[in-house]
Amino acid sequence: MKKTIFSGMQPTSVPQIGNYLGAIKNWGALQSQYNSLYCVVDLHAITVRQDPDELRKNTLGLLALYIAAGLDPDENIIYVQSHYNGHTELAWVLSCFAYMGELGRMTQYKDKSAKHSDNVNVGLFNYPVLMAADILLFGTHLVPVGDDQKQHLELARDIATRFNNVYGDIFIVPEPFIAKEGARIMSLANPEKKMSKSDDEANRVSLLDAPDVVMKKFKRAVTDSETEIRYDVENKPGISNLLEIYAVTTGVTIDDAVAEFAGAGYGTLKTTVGQAVVDNIIDPIQKKYDELIKNEDYLQKIMRQNAQRAKEMGDPILHKVKKSVGFII
Ligand code: TRP
Repeated sequence: MKKTIFSGMQPTSVPQIGNYLGAIKNWGALQSQYNSLYCVVDLHAITVRQDPDELRKNTLGLLALYIAAGLDPDENIIYVQSHYNGHTELAWVLSCFAYMGELGRMTQYKDKSAKHSDNVNVGLFNYPVLMAADILLFGTHLVPVGDDQKQHLELARDIATRFNNVYGDIFIVPEPFIAKEGARIMSLANPEKKMSKSDDEANRVSLLDAPDVVMKKFKRAVTDSETEIRYDVENKPGISNLLEIYAVTTGVTIDDAVAEFAGAGYGTLKTTVGQAVVDNIIDPIQKKYDELIKNEDYLQKIMRQNAQRAKEMGDPILHKVKKSVGFII
């Protein structure tokens, strides 16, 4: 039996090269080994006000980008969260197994309610319960999560265990998925911090940035006051990050990369790495993306079919949940 992987991404920001090199690229390699679901979580997105036209556009865009970045829509279930009502149905049941206290302690809730103090809505508070529903609905074994989502996954595990303690083994208790080769790409402006899709524009290289913008961002990458190119994460985080990006992008080892740049200046390093990212990641992904985004009929077909496949996977579990709590089914 193949294990199930579930991952969700909000259609509010475009994935950046750190997401790609650290996660999406590896997912493509896993598609035959696992049952994988990649969900565009539009329900989560509306916990913060969205412009409706933008949300529709970005939802289609993220779906297209997943495919452009190498996720096969036949081998994986790539779909839109609001197209399968199992998510919200299960979220209601799970909300009766989550406590105000634990939700109030979630760091993301605290951050977002501080940032959007005029709109601290119940959905924002309940966000991790919906995320737990996303995961538990499919009997997910593994969830690829970044540091910022670990606390939410932990909560999903607690809710699953709590429910199972009352009703028997209904849910699989999910584990975090740490990909073996996933690179940890750091911010270009602040190389001691991970590159994040919620970072400032200048610090991250989005998969849809124009090539000249990508080059500009690399040219401005923060380095250090020395001149020697060597791999030393502690003392030279900026240079080490550039070497790491170069190595994973072009498929060479760090040692090879260091050897290749022996005697070169920082300026050469920055432009060579930037160009490698453009040639190997940005250009090919955008070429595919541009084709897909023009073909809305195809995207519509994919997302409807895949929502149906998600439903076929989730409904039996939802059925068990309803039966266990005592709904007439
Ligand atoms: N909360 C996640 C984020 O903001 C997105 C998400 C929603 C998710 N449901 C999920 C991630 C389930 C993993 C599994 O990044």
